[in-house]
Amino acid sequence: MAYNNILTSLEDNILVISINRESKLNALTIETLKEIKEAVDEAQTNDDVHGMILTGVGEKAFAAGADISEFAHFNTEQATRMSADGHDVMNSIENGNKIVIAAVNGFALGGGCELAMACHLRVASSNAKFGQPEVNLGVPPGYGGTQRLVQLIGKGKAMELLLTGDAIDAQTALSLGLTNKVVESADLLNEAKALLKKICSKSPSAVNKVIKCVNDYFRPNVNGMQREIYEFGEAFETADFQEGTDAFLNKRKPNFRAE
Ligand code: COA
Repeated sequence: MAYNNILTSLEDNILVISINRESKLNALTIETLKEIKEAVDEAQTNDDVHGMILTGVGEKAFAAGADISEFAHFNTEQATRMSADGHDVMNSIENGNKIVIAAVNGFALGGGCELAMACHLRVASSNAKFGQPEVNLGVPPGYGGTQRLVQLIGKGKAMELLLTGDAIDAQTALSLGLTNKVVESADLLNEAKALLKKICSKSPSAVNKVIKCVNDYFRPNVNGMQREIYEFGEAFETADFQEGTDAFLNKRKPNFRAE
């Protein structure tokens, strides 16, 4: 599919989606987010894609937020639609069957930080900066930042970042659990790919069940423990379970993706 704001490349069963608005620090227009959702949704049903990496073109920014010039004149109705559509994008990443890793190559501010947080894991370059500066613009975050930041780093620190609008560097993000790893810029994509390949070598159905169970922890009115009991039971009648247990008992490596 042809896109205006993102680049996609598929290699070794890994789809790399790169936000391609470098001169605007990969600021997220509504169309950009729509294209990210289209690419992610298409990949969910494409057997050639085992996992995804989301990154930004260039070394300066993953995404410096929603595109301020686009929404500066929005009214309540337009802004509410913008936020709801943005939530759909984030939810489709977070709740999808396939792992998405954010390779955070610089600024991840506002919507950029929210996009990175919707991914299952984050690998950051040493020059990365994370923050939710929306209070400087007169708005709260609108793409899930008030919820996912609390989930990832706890209420106290999340409140501090959300209320001050301060950005934090990669090492601080690592110490708070906002990123899983920090690597040199030059190694970022390879490190993200290595982590993704490791996960993709595990049982895809078990990985999918882990995503569902962990996400249910945060859903109001859903019992995550019950979900785990259900998914555990369901796993026993999958081909992956046969393969995994047979491999262990026969002292061989499992191959969950045999043709
Ligand atoms: N929306 C729209 N355009 C953006 C943008 C955003 N969120 N972030 C950066 N840009 C644009 C700038 O307007 C500039 O465009 P121009 O060259 O046409 O003037 C270009 O990207 C480069 O940004 P610039 O500000 O010159 O880079 P810098 O290195 O001096 O500063 C930042 C980098 C990230 C500190 C600064 O761009 C910034 O504060 N951006 C906004 C962050 C923000 O508030 N995000 C939350 C939005 S909800």
